[in-house]
Parts: sequence; C-alpha cells; structure tokens
Amino acid sequence: MAVVGCGIIGAAVAWRLSQLGLTVAAFDPAPGDGATHAAAGMLADVTEAEFGEDHLTALNVASAREWPAFAAELSSAAGGADLAFRRTGTLTVAYDSGDRQQLRRLLTLRRGLGLPVEEVSVDEARRLEPLLGPRLAGATWTPDEHQVDPRRVHAALLKVLAGRGVAVVRRRVAELSRSPSGTVDGVLDAAGERHPAGSVVLAAGWASRELAGVPTRPVKGQLLRLDASAQPGFALGRVVRGFVQSRAVYLVPRQDGEVVVGATSEEQPDDRQVTAGGAYAILRDARALIPGIDELPLAELTARARPGSPDNVPMIGESGIPGLLLATGHHRNGILLAPLTASALAARYRAGTAPEWAAAADPRRFAATFTGGPR
Ligand code: GLY
Repeated sequence: MAVVGCGIIGAAVAWRLSQLGLTVAAFDPAPGDGATHAAAGMLADVTEAEFGEDHLTALNVASAREWPAFAAELSSAAGGADLAFRRTGTLTVAYDSGDRQQLRRLLTLRRGLGLPVEEVSVDEARRLEPLLGPRLAGATWTPDEHQVDPRRVHAALLKVLAGRGVAVVRRRVAELSRSPSGTVDGVLDAAGERHPAGSVVLAAGWASRELAGVPTRPVKGQLLRLDASAQPGFALGRVVRGFVQSRAVYLVPRQDGEVVVGATSEEQPDDRQVTAGGAYAILRDARALIPGIDELPLAELTARARPGSPDNVPMIGESGIPGLLLATGHHRNGILLAPLTASALAARYRAGTAPEWAAAADPRRFAATFTGGPR
C-alpha cells in the first residue's frame, strides 16, 4: 500500500494503516516541508466555523474530539514525545465596531450550531489576556480549543513510522501506475522506479491535482514566528485571534516561547516567498491586538500553500477509480483533521466501507474531474 505525500495527513494515514498490519510505504521528497511546516497548530473547530461550511464544521468538531486520544497514543508510541498539545482556549477580539459586528454574527452562527463559545466584555478579555492593546471593541471566548505544534507531531509520526518499519521514500512521485484494466496499482517515482502497491492513498496536499486531476489548489499562507523565550514579561497564555478592520489575524503562543503569527490567505501558487507586504500586513494587524510583540525577536518567516478544495471540505476515501483513495484538500484545517482522516481511511480498510460520518468528505462528489493519471 503506497501513500503519496508524507505531511501530517499522509504520515497519520500511514501510521493508522500500518497498525492494521498492512505493508505501507510513504513517498515524499521532503516529508513535512509543505503546509505542515507552516501550520500554526490551532485545533480550531469553533473559531474556524464559517458561514456555509456546516459540513466542514461537523468534521472539524469530530476530529477535535479525537485529538486528545490521538495525541496521547502518538506521544506514547514515540517514546513520550512532547507534542505541545494543550488546551489554552481562544480569545477572539474585535478591533473596531465593524469588527464587533462581524464577531457577533459569527457568535450567533457558532452558538446556533451548539458550539461552546461565549461573548465576554472587553474588561473580561483583558483579565484573560493583559497584553491586549488599548483599542478593543468586543470579544468572544472559546474555552475548549486546543493547540499543538505540527512540527513536533510530524517528527513524532516519522519516528513511529520508522519504528514500525514503514518506508518513507524521499522521492517525488511522477505518476500513478495503472493496470491494463485501469486499476491504480502502484506509483512511478521521479527516478523512474516503479513501486507496485495493492492500492494508493493520495495525500499530496495541493499537488494532488498534478497526479490524478484532483481539484485541489494552492492557497498561499504567509506566517511569522516570534521568539518570546527570553522575554518573561511577554506572557501570552491563550490563542488570540481577531479582526482588524475586517482582516483576520491570529497569534498562537507556545510554552517554549514561540509565538506563531499569521496568516495571509492568497489564491497564489506555492512560491514559498514571504513578501514585504505580506509580512507587514500580518505584523500591523497582530500588533494592533498585542502591541507587545514589537519587542520580540523575529525568528522565522514562512510561506507555504494550503491544499484548497472547491467547497473547502476535504476529500477523504474512495476516489471511484479502482485502487485510488484520497486524503487531501484539507485547506485551513489539515492539522485539526489529521486524526479523523487517518481513522476514516483505517475504517475503510478494516470494514471495506467508509464510516457514515465521512459522507460529506466523499471524494466522488468531484469524480468527473479525476483522471487517475498525470495532467
Ligand atoms: N488554520 C489557520 C490557517 O490556515 O491560516
């Protein structure tokens, strides 16, 4: 069984499938160097819930529930690895009155979906996070949201895969190979070597489209990493996200002092370039919410593309092409959706069918575009 792509999705899928006793090999020229490398690690099932995305929200909520057990099992399997998985909650703040209106509309949507979020006064928000800036028009508090460090999770997954004898082949897959009857029966790597496989799971992020006509697209995100480890006065305890004159921004503080600040969302290719304008916009909006970031060393600038799908819902399960399964199109929620994606694929292999809850993510809704071969 071959998994194409070994970011957090491919690696989690490979882990779960190997636990079923399947012989698994994962293919990726640079495992974890795509969207996983950039991701902030907010497990934001509530604060990413948007209008018109109820199916996606239901998947996000289900995967958020799986995270505590997934993190505990992975950490233990990786010899006690610290994944920086913790429940910090999310404070979402509005900068001006227009932003407050936007926040309240989202509050109504999210409460209507039964999600745990409440409006708090500006004073209460400041009690929760004294570093908040002077201009603030409103706030909501989501106490249950967790965060995790995606790079640590990915490193733990690679360690566990190695321990289980799962080969991670550091080569680009150039083509899916197909039998005369059309079944996908392996992959052909960029060095021209063919690797036969009983079936193939395509988990190559936005690049999945290059292999099988899967309708993924790159949605570029630029992020900054600040280093608060030598600044004990900079005590940000929660994820802070917000709207600044209708632009979204977030800050994710980790216990080791890293503060991830993001992100742009651009319909752009994965050029991996941080632009002056992108970095400026993120910093301008983040410091409007938390002015104290001015003092922090800038540790890293990152740009990677998320794997968008036409309806923002991922594609998880049978493609309709014999031998080809998909685990891609996770857009803004790849880290959050990793446990659910891996358990959906494992359930498909165990029981022969996808679990009922995975119906919204059934890739066959886009079957008309799939080619099962290069495009
Ligand atoms: N989930 C946050 C982002 O994609 O920027």
